[in-house]
Amino acid sequence: MITASASGKIILFGEHAVVYGQPAIAVPVEQVATTVQIEQGTKGIWIDAPGISLSADLSTLAATHPIKKVILDFFGLTNIPQTPLKIQVTSTIPIASGLGSGAAVSVALLRGLSLFYKITITAEQINAIAFEAEKIHHGTPSGIDNTVIAFSRPVYYIKNQRLETFTVRRPFHILIADTGISALTKVAVGDVRALVERDPLVYGNWIEQIGQIVSSAKMCIENGELIELGSLMTQNQTALSHLTVSSPELDTLITTAMTHGALGAKLSGGGRGGNCIALVDESSIEKVTAELLKAGAKNVVHTLIT
Ligand code: MEV
Repeated sequence: MITASASGKIILFGEHAVVYGQPAIAVPVEQVATTVQIEQGTKGIWIDAPGISLSADLSTLAATHPIKKVILDFFGLTNIPQTPLKIQVTSTIPIASGLGSGAAVSVALLRGLSLFYKITITAEQINAIAFEAEKIHHGTPSGIDNTVIAFSRPVYYIKNQRLETFTVRRPFHILIADTGISALTKVAVGDVRALVERDPLVYGNWIEQIGQIVSSAKMCIENGELIELGSLMTQNQTALSHLTVSSPELDTLITTAMTHGALGAKLSGGGRGGNCIALVDESSIEKVTAELLKAGAKNVVHTLIT
């Protein structure tokens, strides 16, 4: 039996605007992950993914099922003949919560299949197949989730441009707080699109402002200016609220983090639920975590961005 995994991710800056060609900054989060175990089966390709209540033979899944698409794309790419398999998918990444659960399943599956069949596929190839599955999940994705997870490194991402990364002058602490509310990115992205189409001047302006915040944030990360970075996070959150993708639960957690000493806080990912992130000093990690839990966060994960 082989085991492979893929991490979760957070978007530090620029979600939603990234769909319109603005830059965004995202990092892998190793504290949560999807794990895939693959062994030889007896008949067909059997998939167990308890997190999404899936226990079925691949042939019975619709062609548009993201897991089916990924597995068939793997065989298509490598020209390996299908053999009976038993695939188990487990994950500590909450579903529909902005942490890249869908992309992590795709990447972990592709890593697992390439290990099982002892064939090398590149991160670019993994990324390309995972992007196709993201289109099923999210409709018109920017590609940032699959990219950050497939390449397992921080990205300064602009759709359809060569991948850029960045250096972190002063490592910084991020708390990731889960509202416990799942929300489909596809719906939030569609709603933002409707707003932009209805009133391009107003909503297009918010999208552009987010783009400017993201390029300033990159400079702050590279120069180690964490106070300014926090303030940019909060500005990014204001713009996201105008795009209608925050929610009362996110707002409560963001206000709680700020009241108890965070340098900045915002939602992360599609919004309307899912997770928010807060930039904190090392000395306030414990206090802010405790307050977030008291304010209703279902879980708080700490990660150091280096
Ligand atoms: C989802 O993690 C991020 C969004 O910007 C959608 C996308 O980039 O595809 C909301």
